[in-house]
Amino acid sequence: MTQTVLITGATSGIGAEFARQFAARGCDLVLVARNGDALEGTAAALRGQWGVGVETIAADLLDDDGLERVLTRLRAEAPPTGPEAGPEPGPGPGPEAGERTAPRAVTVLVNNAGYGLVKPFADNPLEDEIRHLRIHVEVPLSLAHAALQSMRPRRTGTIINVASVAGFTPRGTYGAAKAAVISFSRWANITYGPEGIRVTAVCPGFVHTEFHQRMGARKADVPGPMWLDAGLVVREALRDTAAGKAVSIPSLRYKALTALARVAPPSVVARLAQRGR
Ligand SMILES: NC(=O)c1ccc[n+]([C@@H]2O[C@H](COP(=O)([O-])OP(=O)(O)OC[C@H]3O[C@@H](n4cnc5c(N)ncnc54)[C@H](OP(=O)(O)O)[C@@H]3O)[C@@H](O)[C@H]2O)c1
Repeated sequence: MTQTVLITGATSGIGAEFARQFAARGCDLVLVARNGDALEGTAAALRGQWGVGVETIAADLLDDDGLERVLTRLRAEAPPTGPEAGPEPGPGPGPEAGERTAPRAVTVLVNNAGYGLVKPFADNPLEDEIRHLRIHVEVPLSLAHAALQSMRPRRTGTIINVASVAGFTPRGTYGAAKAAVISFSRWANITYGPEGIRVTAVCPGFVHTEFHQRMGARKADVPGPMWLDAGLVVREALRDTAAGKAVSIPSLRYKALTALARVAPPSVVARLAQRGR
């Protein structure tokens, strides 16, 4: 069965890499981001290179209407076709050959869209902190909830939540939000695994994307060996998801650092992680 993969934040960085790697596997895509031109450019490139179907939804996930349009797409489901479709429908005008009657059900959801705030909690307006919490926690939960309504009856599906190694350290509200996503993913993978649904939190360290530039942080402050390529992050994420792991920590470097963070005193970890995202 062709997979249909909905990816939020698919125009840049980790989300764009998920789109490339899923397209390379022959999956159809539904790409979500705010910038419609960037979305269309990404979609055209993927259609051209891989010949896969690519839908786009230009939507701000922090906007009620934008979120609702993505939720609606997750709830949409095509009637079955092929041998499992049952008897032919009765007489009357049917769909033209090649015409798709309804969008295909989303079989993989990648909750990835996000951004950072450069200042610490008390220095930001509360509304900015609440929007930041929404994009990293409320939006992924809303989309996962809608996806599960459609995946559970079919007893198959995959949800990938892009979290961060910051979720394992005292790292401000960003770390707290990512910790919530990791905890939820662990629970959901245990709970829905027996129903055929995998849930994985992907926890990268520093990745070369637009993230730091967009938040106004200096990339030069972070030592070179701490940086990962999005290609490696996504390859390891897909391998760990296929293996049914609830948590994927890409690279040996960050696996070791995360293990250390579990045993080191929180004050030491917080100091070391100060620049981490
Ligand atoms: N880069 C890192 O070092 C790193 C490390 C660990 C975890 N992460 C996590 O990885 C995820 C992806 O980040 P990235 O590094 O790939 O960042 P990025 O290159 O800045 O990409 C962010 C993507 O999210 C979209 N987006 C942002 N706000 C949105 C909104 N309100 N509604 C819809 N789409 C929105 C952006 O497109 P538009 O602007 O067009 O909407 C873009 O496609 C985030 O959850 C981040 O927390 C990043």
